[in-house]
Amino acid sequence: MTVRAILHFPDPRLRNKALPVTEINDEIRTLIDDMFETMYHDRGVGLAANQINVFKRVIVMDHSEDRSEQLYFINPEIIAKEGLVTMEEGCLSVPTYYAPVQRAAKVTVRALDKQGKPFELAADGYLAICIQHETDHLDGKLFIDYLSPLKRAMVQKKLEKLRRRTL
Ligand code: NI
Repeated sequence: MTVRAILHFPDPRLRNKALPVTEINDEIRTLIDDMFETMYHDRGVGLAANQINVFKRVIVMDHSEDRSEQLYFINPEIIAKEGLVTMEEGCLSVPTYYAPVQRAAKVTVRALDKQGKPFELAADGYLAICIQHETDHLDGKLFIDYLSPLKRAMVQKKLEKLRRRTL
């Protein structure tokens, strides 16, 4: 397993749309392993393939305290949404910034597993938010897109400053 480099906003590649996975092979299974490794390394709770510069529709997450509940979705599709809730979000591609975002409170997601078998999962709470945040990434969308343009410009400035300092 390999820790891969994460793209950071405002990298334009984060705006690319990921393509559906057409064949589930060892390359995809290795990608999933690397995504978990990268996510754990950077202490995240979720990661989309776009964030490591791979434009395939794969997302992973683990929001357990002891990092023992790996969830991954190949070609995820949100097929039902219910209610609304606002929660504070962050993102490994937008480091050090957190903001409240309103999303559906419950979702049902359909996806494929590593054997190519379809499954459905109904989620609420933090998991429902995570699924929406990560599937957004696959469409080139970031949580800060839900903020006002003014706030988004502020985040961009802050991150550019942070990057200059760490170079
Ligand atoms: Ni994110």
